[in-house]
Amino acid sequence: MLKVQGINVYYGAIHALKELSIEVRQGEIVTLIGANGAGKSTLLKTLSGLLKPKTGSINFLDKSITGQSVQAIVKEGLIHCPEGRRVFANMSVEENLELGAYLQDSTSLPADFEKVYTTFPKLLERKKQQAGTLSGGEQQMLAMGRALMGHPKLLLLDEPSMGLAPLLVQDIFNIIKEVNAAGTTVLLVEQNAHQALKIAHRAYVLETGRVVLEGDAKELADSEEIKMAYLGH
Ligand SMILES: Nc1ncnc2c1ncn2[C@@H]1O[C@H](COP(=O)(O)OP(=O)(O)OP(=O)(O)O)[C@@H](O)[C@H]1O
Ligand SMILES: [Mg+2]
Repeated sequence: MLKVQGINVYYGAIHALKELSIEVRQGEIVTLIGANGAGKSTLLKTLSGLLKPKTGSINFLDKSITGQSVQAIVKEGLIHCPEGRRVFANMSVEENLELGAYLQDSTSLPADFEKVYTTFPKLLERKKQQAGTLSGGEQQMLAMGRALMGHPKLLLLDEPSMGLAPLLVQDIFNIIKEVNAAGTTVLLVEQNAHQALKIAHRAYVLETGRVVLEGDAKELADSEEIKMAYLGH
């Protein structure tokens, strides 16, 4: 579904992604783990068109999307739920969700709202509330709901559990599993490697802009190297 081959991405003189290659297959949850600054968010931003690779190629659903605009990439069904949620604080929950559907045919809006409100009942209770007044967990749900309104074929999630209480973290991971089971392929960036490896099919480990390990999520979770470096035991 997604094939990234040998991309190099720079911020000025900083070489942030180095000859990086990954693949995501239809139906999978693939997780990217790695320390702060490894390049995880940079990779998601490059996939969604916010950053352009200097060299290398990105193919999505058998088409090249290398260097394409954010809007063209969203239209193909590749949707990014960014780090730090980025909801529109002065708009209501409902208005934020509607923005997620801006490229969709308006006839599908009622069904899309219903689907998101079924997945996140909290958002229905708060649909008229200003997004800036929601709790951190509710804002995360809104950010994910907004992404789902765009009919993602591949959903990019950047640190969805960051800063949330343990119970909520569990909810978020359960919802990611449900969304995937309902047919959306997921590329998940997580600092919570333990939980991410539990729900993912496959994983890549990034270090200073390179893939240093990849494989089956369960096998990686059991490997001594991963346990020492990322799982804290
Ligand atoms: N706008 C920018 N300008 C210059 N350098 C940047 C910029 N954004 C990121 N970088 C650098 O690129 C590297 C990768 O950053 P990135 O944000 O992708 O890491 P990350 O793996 O998402 O880390 P974290 O876990 O902290 O979110 C880092 O060295 C970072 O300092
Ligand atoms: Mg990041």
